[in-house]
Amino acid sequence: MAAQAAQAEAAKAEKSYNEAVAAAQSDYAAEPSVSRNAPEAAAEEVNNQIMQQAASQLEDLDIEVAQQEVGEWTERVTVDDKRMINCRADLNQLVPFKYDWAWQKYLDGCANHWMPQEVNMNADIALWKSANGLTPDERLIVKRNLGFFSTADSLVANNLVLALYRLITNPECRQYILRQAFEEAIHTHAYQYCIESLGMDEGEIFNMYHEIPSVAKKASWGLKYTKELNDPNFDTGTPETDKALLKNLIAFYCCLEGIFFYCGFTQILSMGRRNKMTGTSEQFQYILRDESMHLNFGIDTINQIKIENPHLWDDAMKREATQMILQATQLEIEYARDTMPRGVLGMNAVMMEEYLQFIANRRLVQIGLPEQFKGVKNPFPWMSEIMDLRKEKNFFETRVIEYQTGGALTWD
Ligand SMILES: [Fe+2]
Ligand SMILES: [Fe+2]
Repeated sequence: MAAQAAQAEAAKAEKSYNEAVAAAQSDYAAEPSVSRNAPEAAAEEVNNQIMQQAASQLEDLDIEVAQQEVGEWTERVTVDDKRMINCRADLNQLVPFKYDWAWQKYLDGCANHWMPQEVNMNADIALWKSANGLTPDERLIVKRNLGFFSTADSLVANNLVLALYRLITNPECRQYILRQAFEEAIHTHAYQYCIESLGMDEGEIFNMYHEIPSVAKKASWGLKYTKELNDPNFDTGTPETDKALLKNLIAFYCCLEGIFFYCGFTQILSMGRRNKMTGTSEQFQYILRDESMHLNFGIDTINQIKIENPHLWDDAMKREATQMILQATQLEIEYARDTMPRGVLGMNAVMMEEYLQFIANRRLVQIGLPEQFKGVKNPFPWMSEIMDLRKEKNFFETRVIEYQTGGALTWD
């Protein structure tokens, strides 16, 4: 009996299912538009709910709170409100300009735009791969410099973005720092482009800043200045922390970009002048142009902070700044000895030592300190000519114009 009842129940269920399907099919045939759009209607309903939710959240938006989030002031900014550090005015208002020199450097940096792939590396590849193309000493110079620079520009970029940017409190300087950060990315790209084109051992090159003492010492010296400011709890506002920021600026602009780059730049550019590794040399030439502007921005920044905060530039700070520049010079002299165990390319470690002392004197004077190396001369006057952007006459001048034209196009 139970089995019969179950069968009857199953048959009844099947009948009602079939009837429901038939009814649905009939509806579909009679009103195809309604049934076909049912999923769309459901989606539209969900969409409406999401739109309503977004609209109701906007109704609650409090612009006062939002403005306080971006800065403590909601007043319009005047030139007198602006400060290099510890500024309490709105940092999103670029104008009115106070630091025209920073804005001008941003414009100049954009006008000098270039990319590594625009440089022809074919001659370098052939020379690097030929057995007798370069002497072992010349090969050492190329490898050591690509090893140092491929990570050094990353250290500079990280210092800008992770340590410095938030502590420099005016939008003109921040605009330049953003441009500089992109240029550092281009420089790292350029070194990687050389390393890849020449088919070098990337592991060996990119690990030199851990593994080769003369490279590692320079990297470690710079990194310790990033470390203090990199702490999320670090803030300026006391003489001690403001001085820490000043030391970071001196370490990176005057020492790292202003001294640690100079032995390598001179060696590679000297190679290019002798018609060797001309593509690599050309990359370094454009990088040097950018770096001279980074250095000048750093010097102006340091000096402006000194003007606005004269109490920071006391005798102790002057002694410390001098010590930092002397230490950096010593490390760069060690790097010169390591990369030039013998005379090469018309230069040697003794000449480089004098050149670095000459550079160190300039860095000291640029931030208002007395020279420390008496009577030294520049043994490589051709370096100054390369650095003088306006004197340089090569294809790059044309390229600058092309970029400016590109920037003036309208995109409708
Ligand atoms: Fe750079
Ligand atoms: Fe730089």
